[in-house]
Amino acid sequence: MTSTDPLLAADMIIGVCGAGTMGTGIAQVAAQAGHHVVVFDTNSEMLTRARATLDATAKKLFSRGKLNAVEAEALAARVRWTNAIEDLASAGLVIEAIVEKPEVKTDLFSQLEVTLATDAVIATNTSSLSVTELAASLTHPERFLGLHFFNPAPIMKLVEVVPALATGSRYLNAATALMTSWGKVAVVAKDVPGFIVNRAARPFYGEGWRAYEEGAADAATIDYLYRELGRFRMGPLELGDLIGHDINGTAARSVFDAYFGRTRFTPSLAQQALVAGGRLGRKSGLGVYEYGESAPKPVPQFDYTAGAETTEGSAHTGIGDLFEPNNAKDFITFEGVLVGYSSGFSARAEKAHRGQPVVIFECTTDGTCTTIACAVSCDQARQAALSLAQATARNLVIVKDRPGLIVFRTWLQLLNAAADILRDQVAAADSVDQALMYGVNYPMGPFGWAKQYGFTRAVAALDNIATETGNETYRPNEVLRDLARGEG
Ligand code: NAI
Repeated sequence: MTSTDPLLAADMIIGVCGAGTMGTGIAQVAAQAGHHVVVFDTNSEMLTRARATLDATAKKLFSRGKLNAVEAEALAARVRWTNAIEDLASAGLVIEAIVEKPEVKTDLFSQLEVTLATDAVIATNTSSLSVTELAASLTHPERFLGLHFFNPAPIMKLVEVVPALATGSRYLNAATALMTSWGKVAVVAKDVPGFIVNRAARPFYGEGWRAYEEGAADAATIDYLYRELGRFRMGPLELGDLIGHDINGTAARSVFDAYFGRTRFTPSLAQQALVAGGRLGRKSGLGVYEYGESAPKPVPQFDYTAGAETTEGSAHTGIGDLFEPNNAKDFITFEGVLVGYSSGFSARAEKAHRGQPVVIFECTTDGTCTTIACAVSCDQARQAALSLAQATARNLVIVKDRPGLIVFRTWLQLLNAAADILRDQVAAADSVDQALMYGVNYPMGPFGWAKQYGFTRAVAALDNIATETGNETYRPNEVLRDLARGEG
């Protein structure tokens, strides 16, 4: 492939099918990259609405100083809206973003194959259908592939590039290079259910729901810990409320089913109950939380709230070190109690093993957390946790004493799912990390997290969780064990 490859020509016309949420966003991305774009939709009302949306976006980008007047005008002018498929005839690449129904999509592809030049590329933005199966309906499947954008397409940087079994490498390489030239992070993924993101991110929800179902803490506290300790933008429960539990629950179910149940999570019965009760989240005014003007704002429950009354300061022997992220690798003794990070065992199990009261802390992603969270083995340990929070002027949350706690267990299970993706040759480790950072805004990828935390410690913690919970889905696979051995 060279820069003279027609698929990379700057004047290539981009076709977009579907003027809905994704099609409109993709058209904007292509137009901002300088292409002339033709958007085709069978529904004229959708075309009118999409055109108005793009005009408004161009004005907004101008008023915010992101585009100058000429660029803003050019952006809207570069996009043509049509309900005649023949208008796509001169497109070099057509990205399909119509309804998620295989028979409607394959019918459209047949029409495209007779409309487009023989060398034009056809891409699908499908989230849940098999790219290989869609390709099989084409006369020329070698020029077909998946380009999976994330919503909102102009903002989310990730595009999963998914070759079908029949996709020609020339088309795959050209499409990947084109996405990169559009400023996207293009990661190539094997055509498996959920590709990378919708598979790798499932434990985030699964572990959130499991913690909730097991009463690890109340919902608001669980979500808060994901934000404060994990540096995730939202907790899994509030994110489920935003997405809608019908949609989020169906996605969980479909990935679980697609892998014949061989996944690192099971769909949540508590979420299923919300859906059955019509509590779909924000859109129905009630989900995990209540919405509306008079609804109470969810607040986390602290067992200690930091004030100005610090008594001892973190100069107290060893404490300063303890809260450097993932720093203290072993327990230290504080007021006659063993204090340290989770090794995957509960505080009760550690106490039984070590013969002393134990406080176990959640991992922290960086050293700036204002809150610490822990599990305690007994009242004496609880007292020690309270004085530690006081001494270090941090809020304290004492969660239920469960192996691996909440956020730590989630990172570990994300790592497990990511290692499964490596084992199954779906994508490389860097691609998995990038996919989660740029597709769903995680603060880092699971492999990046494990590099900080240590693969050996992570593998040991997963084995410990599996042993104590009796749940084998926490058991690390052979690829993760190799990474730990490679750490030396
Ligand atoms: P949407 O419902 O907002 O828009 C679909 C559009 O397709 C509508 O304007 C409809 O009139 C049009 N359409 C239906 N049949 C057509 C046909 N035969 N020819 C031309 N146009 C037709 O849907 P949305 O959310 O934009 O999703 C589109 C695709 O993108 C789906 O495959 C979906 O799985 C995928 N996707 C959606 C994401 C999302 O967050 N909404 C994220 C990533 C992918």
